[in-house]
Amino acid sequence: MSPSVLNSDLSCLAAEVDRVANHADWIHLDIMDNHFVPNLTFGVPVVESLLKRISIPADCHLMISDPDRWAPAYAEAGASSVTFHIEAAANPGRLCRDLRAAGARAGIGLKPGTGISAVAELMTELDMILIMTVEPGFGGQSFMSDMLPKIEQARALAEATGTDIWVQVDGGIDISTIERCASAGANVFVAGSSVYLAQDPGAMVDRLRALAMVATTP
Ligand code: DX5
Ligand code: ZN
Repeated sequence: MSPSVLNSDLSCLAAEVDRVANHADWIHLDIMDNHFVPNLTFGVPVVESLLKRISIPADCHLMISDPDRWAPAYAEAGASSVTFHIEAAANPGRLCRDLRAAGARAGIGLKPGTGISAVAELMTELDMILIMTVEPGFGGQSFMSDMLPKIEQARALAEATGTDIWVQVDGGIDISTIERCASAGANVFVAGSSVYLAQDPGAMVDRLRALAMVATTP
């Protein structure tokens, strides 16, 4: 479970992370540059400051142009996982190697319009495939159920590669959608508004996790 703080109260980011820290595995940090997506959030200095204040690992989702140039700094700042978008990268294989060398898990994200074949040749270089289940840029959008076959394809590619590759879903994940994603093969779940708009965000993380577990228990 990787709750996204995008729709939390960003004026007190560390306190918002603390609300879920004992329930989540990662905290999902959405980095947007007003260029790759039409929204702007925060960058390395904020991630670096936040990491000094929190105990939970950071899962940085970079929705930025030219990740080849900018992404390694997030790994160097201490992010445990750094995901960039395949649509934006010039040399994704080399970037994955750079991220791993800097101590992070390397993730590659796919916008809804990008087919799974974009990562087929890169499977040995990456640790996680992110299937976007909304158009990246904003929280609170509706889950795109037509992405379910792509989640299945990502899981099949991961299994065929034989290494421990995780499949993450991001966008519109809530109590009505998480089970379908888990059944299709996702094992890392980003949830923004469903968690932070809940009265008790920590309890919602637990509830979502339980639903995902039930959906994958034979
Ligand atoms: C959107 C971001 C998401 C966002 C998800 O581009 O990548 O991480 O926070 O928000 P919800 O869960 O509200 O769809
Ligand atoms: Zn995200």
